[in-house]
Amino acid sequence: MNLKIAVLSGDGIGPEVILQAKKALYAIGVVYDHEFVFEDALIGAIAIEKTGNPLPEQTLNLCLNTHAVLFGAIGDPMYDNDPTAKIRPELGLLKLRKELGLFANIRPIKAYPKLMDSSPIKKEVLQGTDFIVYRELNGGMYFGDKTTNEEGTYASDLCEYNEEEITKITHLAFKAAQGRRKKVTLVDKANVLETSRLWRKVVTNIAKEYPDVTLNFLYVDNAAMQIISNPRQFDILLTDNLFGDILSDEASVISGSIGLMASASLGEKHSLFEPIHGCYTEAKDKNIANPIAAILSVALLLEHFGLTTESKKVIKAVERAIITQVVTVDLKVNSQFGTNEVGDFISNYIMNEGDLYFKKDFVQIGQSTIV
Ligand code: IPM
Ligand code: MN
Repeated sequence: MNLKIAVLSGDGIGPEVILQAKKALYAIGVVYDHEFVFEDALIGAIAIEKTGNPLPEQTLNLCLNTHAVLFGAIGDPMYDNDPTAKIRPELGLLKLRKELGLFANIRPIKAYPKLMDSSPIKKEVLQGTDFIVYRELNGGMYFGDKTTNEEGTYASDLCEYNEEEITKITHLAFKAAQGRRKKVTLVDKANVLETSRLWRKVVTNIAKEYPDVTLNFLYVDNAAMQIISNPRQFDILLTDNLFGDILSDEASVISGSIGLMASASLGEKHSLFEPIHGCYTEAKDKNIANPIAAILSVALLLEHFGLTTESKKVIKAVERAIITQVVTVDLKVNSQFGTNEVGDFISNYIMNEGDLYFKKDFVQIGQSTIV
């Protein structure tokens, strides 16, 4: 396969984790004879700095003309602390999601046996957790009209949804459930919000087309509690843009680190793959950022293009890194391995899995020759 991939590393730790993701993809290309052609472009704070625009035209055009986008992170504390800033890095990502029609954001949540102690949640609660958040990505409060008055004493963000927007992601969620444990949980606030009542109506109707899938409903406040008190109950969690943003960060606590959480954003024509952790500016250039979320985003990319064996190989390499504890400090206090070392281990494993070196549990602290 030949894939042209736009690489938007962005801000903060974006460039360093994306470099590791590219290494993993390159390794897959070598082993399975695919050609991945990368083309870099600017987005976010770095794009504002260089061009005045968080999503330069050139970047958008590149993304419109590639098979997929590999995305790093966006944001800069400089803007976070300035509520008056008119141009913000995040606008680049929001515009890109809209322009590419990326209406579904898919975030898998899993408890890794080896990492249960990294999570503040009890092992008994975590064990066997495996669900996917289907977050609507093109509508809701993120994209409704925004207003403020001249004095700066009033602000409003409109939350809007139409039937079509809900329908598109709902079908994807039900199809995914059919290939899994056949359960969709719609998370909303239908006791208060009109948009949530519309979601319930539309989703209930669509559910009739999938008689093998069970649909249930949960209010978002209750869901926030259930995600950490009884996460095993979820299979596909379907929700709107804002709730999905919040709940998926919360759910990352299950896996032990947000540095493990990958995502795929899908539209009818385009797709974007991105770690969910954000820019984490404090860690920039310190070789401590966890590259696994970016690398698992590559696994989602491969899966999306039907390269299932290749995707599984990436996941296996990541699991191997976790099992042998070649992980960054977020997963193991005092770990001697950094962003580059974890990335090297994973791409080396992809290329040389058959090596004796990987056959033994050889990669222990102090014994490693390759990392
Ligand atoms: C995410 C991020 C973005 C969002 C920000 C950076 C705009 O938090 O992808 O979850 O809120 O969607
Ligand atoms: Mn978020």
